[in-house]
Amino acid sequence: MRRPLVAGNWKMNGSIASVDSLLSGLSQLKMAKTVDLAVCPSFVFLQQATAALTGSGIKVGAQDCSPVSDGAYTGDISASMLVDQGCALVLIGHSERREYHQEGDALLAEKLATVVTLGLAPVLCVGETREQREAGDAEQVVGEQLRGALMNQSSLEGLVIAYEPVWAIGTGLTATPEQAQAMHAYIRNELASIEGVSANETRLLYGGSVKAANAVELFAQPDIDGALVGGAALDAVEFGKIIDAA
Ligand code: G3H
Repeated sequence: MRRPLVAGNWKMNGSIASVDSLLSGLSQLKMAKTVDLAVCPSFVFLQQATAALTGSGIKVGAQDCSPVSDGAYTGDISASMLVDQGCALVLIGHSERREYHQEGDALLAEKLATVVTLGLAPVLCVGETREQREAGDAEQVVGEQLRGALMNQSSLEGLVIAYEPVWAIGTGLTATPEQAQAMHAYIRNELASIEGVSANETRLLYGGSVKAANAVELFAQPDIDGALVGGAALDAVEFGKIIDAA
């Protein structure tokens, strides 16, 4: 039995004041004991978040990290810095990193190896664009993203996969529960062929315009083990309703 995980990705949003208010809203939520929870603020708010959420049951994660352990890499943030800040997980290969920073599978494989070594749980994000789906290539694209990052890793401890169809991110278009389930089943099947992955134990999150109104149907699907929530995670009440649905 896989324990659901609902994680909020705050992306590049917030100020010290608005993050304080969001954290205070989150700490007032009644926490479901059967669901794991996490939020991924921008780097500059990590300390604020870990200070406010310690003991709340909500873990803190980062949205990205460097593949390199330390050194002269101006502007980068290392995985050990994230551990030092109290992070428990880190997103790897979000589609916005792939698109705006040209992050490819080889780089993502390096990042994944680095974070696992330090005990951070990697949340590997995969997903196809609308053009790729319309061309009938969605499974092939997602399969290549999975194999590109996961093959030949010496450990994949704590691995979580987030399937986020790019066409559903921030657009208000959600994959139907059937479309999402079909891709999650495909992903689980692919994971089974990758050495070092326990496909049945790996949590597969859906992401892409998840909100309280569609969460129940999505979470009812047998291979959907939670969600990676963007916009709706910036509202503690809405995020709380999504948690209730899990
Ligand atoms: O990481 C989260 C996803 O990109 C989903 O974002 O819920 O705003 O569509 P969204």
